[in-house]
Parts: sequence; C-alpha cells; structure tokens
Amino acid sequence: MKNVALITGASSGIGQDLAHIHAELKKDLVIVARSEDKLKSLKKELEDKHDVQVKVIVKDLSDPQSAQEIYDELKAENIEIKYLFNNAGFGGVGDFYKREWAKDESMMMVNMVTPSYLCRLFLPDMMKRKQGKILNVSSTASFLPGPGQAVYYASKAYMQFFSNALWQEVKAHNITVTNLMPGATKSGFGGRSGMDKTALFSHPASSRSVAEAGYKGLMNGDLDVITGVDLATRILIKLKPLIPKKVLLKQIHKAQTIAD
Ligand SMILES: NC(=O)c1ccc[n+]([C@@H]2O[C@H](COP(=O)([O-])OP(=O)(O)OC[C@H]3O[C@@H](n4cnc5c(N)ncnc54)[C@H](OP(=O)(O)O)[C@@H]3O)[C@@H](O)[C@H]2O)c1
Repeated sequence: MKNVALITGASSGIGQDLAHIHAELKKDLVIVARSEDKLKSLKKELEDKHDVQVKVIVKDLSDPQSAQEIYDELKAENIEIKYLFNNAGFGGVGDFYKREWAKDESMMMVNMVTPSYLCRLFLPDMMKRKQGKILNVSSTASFLPGPGQAVYYASKAYMQFFSNALWQEVKAHNITVTNLMPGATKSGFGGRSGMDKTALFSHPASSRSVAEAGYKGLMNGDLDVITGVDLATRILIKLKPLIPKKVLLKQIHKAQTIAD
C-alpha cells in the first residue's frame, strides 16, 4: 500500500467524505469504525472506482486497547501510515448531571483518549521517516464551554489545545498536526447526539465541503481550519473574549436546549 491514510470514523459523514477525497487522489486507505457493513461497502466502492487499496479495521474506539491494536495490526502487515485522520467522535445533548455516565465516559475515550493514543503511537514512526501529516477533528465547540453538552465541548477544547501543542512540538521534524473545527455539519452526528433538534443546527454545512476544507488544511500543514460556519459565528468567535462569560453560558445553554 502507498501514501496510506488511516481514517477513523470513515463509515459515515465527514470521515466517509475524507476517504472519498483521499481515494480520488489514487492514494490507499485504512478505514476504521464499528459498522463493518458500511466499511466493507465503502471499501468496494473506492477500490472499484479509483483503483486503490483499502483495508478495513472494525474497531470500537471507546475500548482503551483499540489504538494499540490498530497500530499492532498495521505494523504486522508493514503498512506505513503517512496521513492520520482522527475523525471519529460523537456528542450528546442533556445536562451533565442527568446524562448516563457510561455514555460520557465512552465519549471521552472516542473524542480524546484514543485519538491522543493514536498520535502517540504513529508520531515516532513519522518522525523517523521525517514525513507525516495528522488531522484532528475538533469543532467550533472547542472555543467555548458547552452547558447542555458539557463533556462534548470540553472534549473538543482538549483536541484543539492538544493538536495545537503537537503542531509546535513536531513541526521541526517535517510533521504537521492540523486542528479542524467544523460548525454544524449534515452527517450522522446531529441525529445521534440530538443536536439536530437544537437551534444550532438550522443551517448545517455539507460533510463534503467540511472534508474538503480539512483535507486542504492537512495538505497545507495549517495549524487551524475553521469551516462550515456563517459570518455571524466567525465574528462571535473573534468577539468572544469581550462578551461576559455568564452571558455566553446562558446563551449557549439556551441554544442547546431541545424545544418541546
Ligand atoms: N456534524 C457536525 O455538526 C460536527 C461539527 C463539529 C465537529 N464534528 C466532529 O466531526 C467528527 C465526525 O463526525 P460526523 O459529523 O461525520 O458524524 P457521523 O456521521 O456520526 O460520523 C461519526 C463517525 O465516528 C464513528 N464512531 C463513533 N463512535 C465510535 C466508536 N465508539 N468507535 C469507532 N468509531 C466510532 C462512527 O462510526 P460507527 O458508528 O460505524 O462506529 C462514524 O463513522 C466527529 O469527531 C464530530 O465530533 C461534527
């Protein structure tokens, strides 16, 4: 396999579009998620259309061993990862004290711990080769605390800060770590998290457009990519330090409450 991208969460949404974009460039892929049928049909489609090789790894990324198992499987088959896309993730609305702990614990594993572990495992190999690019998918949620979705927002803030710190640490080794921050995007995410019923999801961007912006940012080695947000949100992000925090918290809580 050549010019291989490892894409987590490739069975749906942004990850699936990232896989299409990579394959359209005639580059090989390792695609990871839990939905075996979806991954297998994506593999067939990409191999048939683009004459690339696609390896499927079915894995639950909330399992603490999952990152090591993926790394070991690829090492055993001598598959070198040139591009790592830490894309898998999920949210879930509801005030923290009412939410099921197991779901939030699993969210922290999938959104923060496993992607960090994958970076830790693949970075040393990239450094040895002096070649590699990582795209970590956080969110515009990473700019703010998120009452009504406390763990999700905090997990994305972690990914933003983690990715930016790595960018600085490894850039001298010809490795880049790009932090992708999409706004509301049409994918499986809205339905799974309950976010599609909130005001924040009134005009979602297409997952293809978000994936294209992320892929371009990865290739450029950009530090941050903000995409899928309207002008008003861009301005809000810039003005955020000037808005009293208590006002922001109230507004966000309201925006994330599901209307009856
Ligand atoms: N959509 C938005 O509005 C939005 C906005 C900002 C950021 N994001 C971020 O963008 C990323 C991609 O989300 P999306 O919008 O494309 O949503 P999506 O369509 O729901 O896709 C999520 C992907 O993550 C995978 N995944 C979830 N839990 C997993 C687990 N335990 N183990 C393995 N894979 C798992 C899913 O695969 P399986 O279910 O097959 O395992 C799926 O392929 C996420 O990190 C999300 O937080 C999304």
